[in-house]
Amino acid sequence: MFTSVSDHARPLGHDLILKSIHSEQDIDRLAAFNAHIHDERLLPMTQGLIRLHPNSRPEYWLFVEEVSTGRIISSLCLIPWHWRYEEVVLHAGEMGIVGTLAEYRHRGLIRALVARFKELLHEGQFDLSMIEGIPYFYRQFGYEYALPLEAQWRLQLHCIPPASEADKSYRFRPATEADIPDLMRLYEESTRDLGIAMVRTAPIWAYLVNHVSHTANLHETWMVEDASGALEGWFATDQMGFGEGLIVAESAQFKIEAAGAVLRELKRMALERGKPDIRLNLPEDHLLLQLARQWHAHDQGTYAWQIHLPDVGRLLTRIAPVLERRIAHSPFAGLTQTFTLNLYREAYNLHWQNGKLRQVESIGFSEEGAVRIPPLLFAPLLLGYRSLDELRHFAPDVSVWGEAKLLVKTLFPQMTSFLYTQY
Ligand SMILES: CC(C)(COP(=O)(O)OP(=O)(O)OC[C@H]1O[C@@H](n2cnc3c(N)ncnc32)[C@H](O)[C@@H]1OP(=O)(O)O)[C@@H](O)C(=O)NCCC(=O)NCCS
Repeated sequence: MFTSVSDHARPLGHDLILKSIHSEQDIDRLAAFNAHIHDERLLPMTQGLIRLHPNSRPEYWLFVEEVSTGRIISSLCLIPWHWRYEEVVLHAGEMGIVGTLAEYRHRGLIRALVARFKELLHEGQFDLSMIEGIPYFYRQFGYEYALPLEAQWRLQLHCIPPASEADKSYRFRPATEADIPDLMRLYEESTRDLGIAMVRTAPIWAYLVNHVSHTANLHETWMVEDASGALEGWFATDQMGFGEGLIVAESAQFKIEAAGAVLRELKRMALERGKPDIRLNLPEDHLLLQLARQWHAHDQGTYAWQIHLPDVGRLLTRIAPVLERRIAHSPFAGLTQTFTLNLYREAYNLHWQNGKLRQVESIGFSEEGAVRIPPLLFAPLLLGYRSLDELRHFAPDVSVWGEAKLLVKTLFPQMTSFLYTQY
């Protein structure tokens, strides 16, 4: 696996060097380092991600080493994803497993690793980057909260009505590799209505189904069939993760009768595993969640992915087909205009001609433009996580005048989005 690795090493002074992994031994000592910083689950997860995950590349696993001892001091990695933004596929680079030995913290080692990480984003032409991340820290590196993460809907077991006669016609079994074509179809169907969703290829399904012990949260995939063996859908549970409850990590959009049977099966699993309740980590309008709300599920809040846009001009060009479709279905149909989007540090001229976005031109610093948005706040707008009005409500420097306000609302509507896992 190391034949195509572009070796990278950068001395940092003070007996420290920044490197990427380049041997099997590096994988094991980095996995041990991650387990030491975070928890023991990180050992198999790091090993699995590097050795087995289809999207992983060794040169994307960065660390700082103490030269005289060979000790790993600090580390993070870049994990490539593919997202679907409406009908366009985007290349996203997750910043993952960030940590520094306690005695070396606050010396800028993560800052140095992030600098290399951002070079990799540019070299690999990534459209965006995200991190699950501890609160605040990543704002310093240009990340802003911009997509829902870790929904915490709690359903008490005693609120789930008793089994109905219809429940008897459903069967539940662990998924196998043979189920992957069906899972891919079900996944497409159930995420179709999401504005943004991850693209789950057959190799990613294979990783999730075949390497449960190498997934982040011991992710288990379950198939749901009717009495005749016909497929009704799938759901997945995480054995690990936030909270004490049984975590529902993903699910098909079941028919209502099957949804009730699935929630009762989850109750059975929760009781069997000694879990006090069920936690639904699902998109806001998912049918399973709607039913759970009828059964008094309560919301304990949702965290958010922190997002960085490495090259706004490139990203706008990439999503041009979506922007053009939004314009075509609006009063701006046939738009011919140069429209300046000013992100304060850098402005962009969007050249529209007959409803087509012909060019996105970076014009550097400018004081022009009817649309001014602080650079970090553009990610939540572009990803449909916050509306223009919501942003203006708390950030007076989101400044949009006249007709441009309607145009921005047309180009960047709010969307329901959700990223299921890929490892
Ligand atoms: C969070 C952590 C990775 C930071 O590592 P670090 O090597 O100290 O980071 P850096 O020194 O490069 O930090 C960059 C800047 O943020 C500051 N900083 C460090 N930790 C911070 C924190 N928790 N919150 C806010 N700022 C912090 C640093 O002082 C530095 O500021 P400066 O450049 O103005 O001097 C480290 O504390 C750690 O490993 N924690 C335990 C594991 C963890 O929580 N990882 C993050 C999972 S998402």
